[in-house]
Amino acid sequence: MIFLRLAKKSDIPILEYWDKQQHVIDCHSDSGDYESHDWTWEQELKQNPDYFNTYIAENTIQEKTIPIGVVQIIDPFHEESHYWGEVEENLRAIDIWIGEAKNLNMGYGTEMMRLAINICFKNPKVKAIIIDPLASNTRAINFYLKFGFKFVRFKTFGEDYCAVHRLDRGSMSVEQ
Ligand SMILES: CC(C)(COP(=O)(O)OP(=O)(O)OC[C@H]1O[C@@H](n2cnc3c(N)ncnc32)[C@H](O)[C@@H]1OP(=O)(O)O)[C@@H](O)C(=O)NCCC(=O)NCCS
Repeated sequence: MIFLRLAKKSDIPILEYWDKQQHVIDCHSDSGDYESHDWTWEQELKQNPDYFNTYIAENTIQEKTIPIGVVQIIDPFHEESHYWGEVEENLRAIDIWIGEAKNLNMGYGTEMMRLAINICFKNPKVKAIIIDPLASNTRAINFYLKFGFKFVRFKTFGEDYCAVHRLDRGSMSVEQ
C-alpha cells in the first residue's frame, strides 16, 4: 500500500542518496549535472507550504514501511523562484521520481501519481496540473499520457528542453 506524506528533515539523507541514482540524474537535466544543483534539500523542505510541497512515497508491506520515491507539488503561479515563468493562476505542477532503480516498473509510480493528482484536485480552485518532463524522457511522457495528460508545447527551462503536458480537471483517464 502506497502513501504520500510530507517530507521532513530526517528524510534528507535518503533524498540525497536518491539524487545520486543515475535514473534520477537523467530525468532532471539534459546536461547530466543535476547532482551539482545550487539548492539544498534543507532549503527545499523549508519552502512555503502554501506553494511548494515535497512528499515522500512510502510502501507498507506486512507492517514494514519503506520510503520509495518523491512527489513535489507546487503552485507555479505563486512559487518563489517562478521556475515556470508566466503561467495562469490555479494550476499545480508535479514532479515525481522513484528513488531506486530496483523499484521502477512495479506499479508504484502509477499509485503515487494517482495520489498526487487527488491532492491537487482536492482544492476546488485547481483547474489543471502541468508537468515538464525532458522531451527526451519518453518513458515518463508515456507514463503521464496514460493519466490523460495532453502535450501542450516544447519549452526550454534553463538548459533543459522539456515537453510541457497538462491534465485538466475532469480529464483524468486512470480511475481515482
Ligand atoms: C516515471 C516513473 C515515476 C514511473 O514510475 P514507475 O513506478 O516506474 O511506473 P509504473 O510501474 O507505475 O508503470 C510503468 C510500467 O510498469 C508496469 N507495471 C505497472 N504496474 C505493475 C506491477 N504491479 N508490477 C509490475 N509492473 C507493473 C506497467 O507495464 C507500466 O507500464 P504501462 O503504463 O505501459 O502499463 C519512474 O519511471 C521514474 O521514477 N522514472 C525516473 C524519474 C522520471 O523520469 N521522473 C519523471 C520526471 S518528469
